[in-house]
Amino acid sequence: MAQSPLIELDDVGKVFITGALRHEVLKHISLKIEEGEYLALMGPSGSGKSTLLNILGCLDVPSGGHYRLEGREIASRADAELARVRNQFFGFVFQSFNLLGRYTVEENVALPMVYRGLARRERLQRARDLLARVGLKDFTRHLPSELSGGMQQRVAIARALVNSPKVLFADEPTGNLDSKTGQEIISLFGELSAEGTTLVVVTHDPRVAEHARRVLTLIDGEIVGDKRNGEAA
Ligand SMILES: Nc1ncnc2c1ncn2[C@@H]1O[C@H](COP(=O)(O)OP(=O)(O)OP(=O)(O)O)[C@@H](O)[C@H]1O
Ligand SMILES: [Mg+2]
Repeated sequence: MAQSPLIELDDVGKVFITGALRHEVLKHISLKIEEGEYLALMGPSGSGKSTLLNILGCLDVPSGGHYRLEGREIASRADAELARVRNQFFGFVFQSFNLLGRYTVEENVALPMVYRGLARRERLQRARDLLARVGLKDFTRHLPSELSGGMQQRVAIARALVNSPKVLFADEPTGNLDSKTGQEIISLFGELSAEGTTLVVVTHDPRVAEHARRVLTLIDGEIVGDKRNGEAA
């Protein structure tokens, strides 16, 4: 029997209603993401990329259609159930790094482990291991404000990895970074992908798209392109 895709969207739509306005932001999205893929999501501003990423990562729910994770339908709209799915399967990185300014770098990374019943010492040790992994072993006791933007984004990536997610979602991870620093983040994603992490990255940055192995293009809430790098256009 063929294995189920890691994530499957089947005819998913998303409608936002503001006052009397009904805005159909995603239309008939059908998509399979397999374990180990490195997928870039591109498209003009307002095309629905972040909305799609949020649905893929169970940060938001579809208005219609089906969402399956490892073949199991996730029909729940309950926040607690969605949070459980996120904690167990997903890590997130955003354009603004969302680090807590009063905590050290290692404390920031250790934070998502609080609910796993690990002792503080173990949490900090794992945080330090992950910080070494992203090239920041000498900055564990610093405050985020003492680090450059690229380093802060690496802290955010380490934090996203603490619960060993099956999928790392990133929304414009290089959007606030200069070109050279952005390149470091792209290289790190390449390494994570080579190690088997599934990556889904929303980006305007053509360099990210070059490194990804599959590029989805959205326009007006519809998938208009789904290309594997190395294939003819
Ligand atoms: N919570 C919301 N309520 C109402 N409309 C929304 C909401 N979130 C997004 N939208 C609308 O949905 C459309 C798609 O937004 P989305 O943020 O997914 O676009 P995007 O492709 O990520 O754009 P950008 O590249 O600018 O980040 C936009 O027109 C936006 O105004
Ligand atoms: Mg967006």
